[in-house]
Amino acid sequence: MSAVETLQVQLAERSYPIIFGSGLSHQVAEAVSAARGQGRRLVVVTDTTVRAAADGLFAGPLAGLPTFTVPPGEGSKSLRVFAEACEFLARERIDRGGVLIAVGGGVVGDLGGFLAAAYLRGIDFWQIPTTLLAMVDSAVGGKTGVNLEAGKNLVGAFHQPRSVTCDMALLRTLPAREFSAGMAEVIKYGLLGDAALFADLERAAMTSADDPRLAGVVHRCCAIKAAVVQADERETAPSGGRALLNLGHTFAHAIEAVAGYGQYLHGEAVGAGLVAASRLSEKLGLIPAGDVARVRCVVEAHGLPVRLRAPLATDALLEAMRRDKKVKHGRLRFVVLESLGRAVTRDEVDPALAAGIWKELGAA
Ligand SMILES: NC(=O)c1ccc[n+]([C@@H]2O[C@H](COP(=O)([O-])OP(=O)(O)OC[C@H]3O[C@@H](n4cnc5c(N)ncnc54)[C@H](O)[C@@H]3O)[C@@H](O)[C@H]2O)c1
Ligand SMILES: [Zn+2]
Repeated sequence: MSAVETLQVQLAERSYPIIFGSGLSHQVAEAVSAARGQGRRLVVVTDTTVRAAADGLFAGPLAGLPTFTVPPGEGSKSLRVFAEACEFLARERIDRGGVLIAVGGGVVGDLGGFLAAAYLRGIDFWQIPTTLLAMVDSAVGGKTGVNLEAGKNLVGAFHQPRSVTCDMALLRTLPAREFSAGMAEVIKYGLLGDAALFADLERAAMTSADDPRLAGVVHRCCAIKAAVVQADERETAPSGGRALLNLGHTFAHAIEAVAGYGQYLHGEAVGAGLVAASRLSEKLGLIPAGDVARVRCVVEAHGLPVRLRAPLATDALLEAMRRDKKVKHGRLRFVVLESLGRAVTRDEVDPALAAGIWKELGAA
């Protein structure tokens, strides 16, 4: 087992540790038995794929705990599944002292976090992320929620976990495509706040969970996310702040919405979105063309698309950007790069610039 490291997210009474290492069953077992020793009731939320993949956890420290298992996939982030899970918690007589343990990717983390936020007006929850995306992004920061027919993440709450355990060993069973998708968010962190991280990925791509740099890289991403969340927990800063975490995402969300959910993994859309955001930064005179080429290279080296896989209508993409819930008062707001490693928000971007970029990315 490699060294265990901890990072504290500082949010006053909502502060919590993020634990990094490989093979952390022992830590989970200790936390479970400590909570049980205090007479607390624990409940696990997971999906069927994770339950089979993380058998060490389920046969070990989580054995015997009541477990609500959902089908894998975005479809489980629904009000219907949420309601069923609430009834499950009630049947298991989870009380205000209860602990919900979310073991899975972002779907399970967002659903489980929202359950913990809403059930009895809030109980404690622990995150055990099992995808790279969840480790570096969704498990940290307290955004929880489910989807509506009308769109993703439209119902939810801010509810910080009490702990996040990032066990790299859990990533060994993650399909390569999901690993790559998580790397899109890692590249994003390099671009928005850690030039050395970006340079490291440029020197050699990280394409599997066996990469010895993994725990350190996940730690660095979480440190950036923690710093951003500490400064702007509820994304209310007039500029910069938590919105910076959306680098590449205005483009990515449009790709996901227009292509139809399921065509691109979120991280794949983010890959193309990062290329688009860097190209926009160049068009705004912020970074040189050579930097855009560097971003494209790194995205491509991680097995991610740098342009649309099949043409999508430019008008539909622009319309989807306008509908993105990050858009305030109808103006297009983007996160752009001042350099590779420094991002800023930019309001009132001329839609014609975005249209040009969509065409370059292969839009019709
Ligand atoms: N709350 C936030 O701040 C935040 C941030 C980013 C994304 N999200 C949300 O996260 C979700 C996406 O998360 P995701 O990419 O982790 O997807 P996911 O949870 O759907 O997991 C992807 C797939 O990998 C499988 N899987 C998970 N762990 C595995 C493992 N260790 N081995 C084998 N298979 C495994 C899952 O069963 C699933 O099929 C979206 O709903 C998105 O909205 C939330
Ligand atoms: Zn994302």
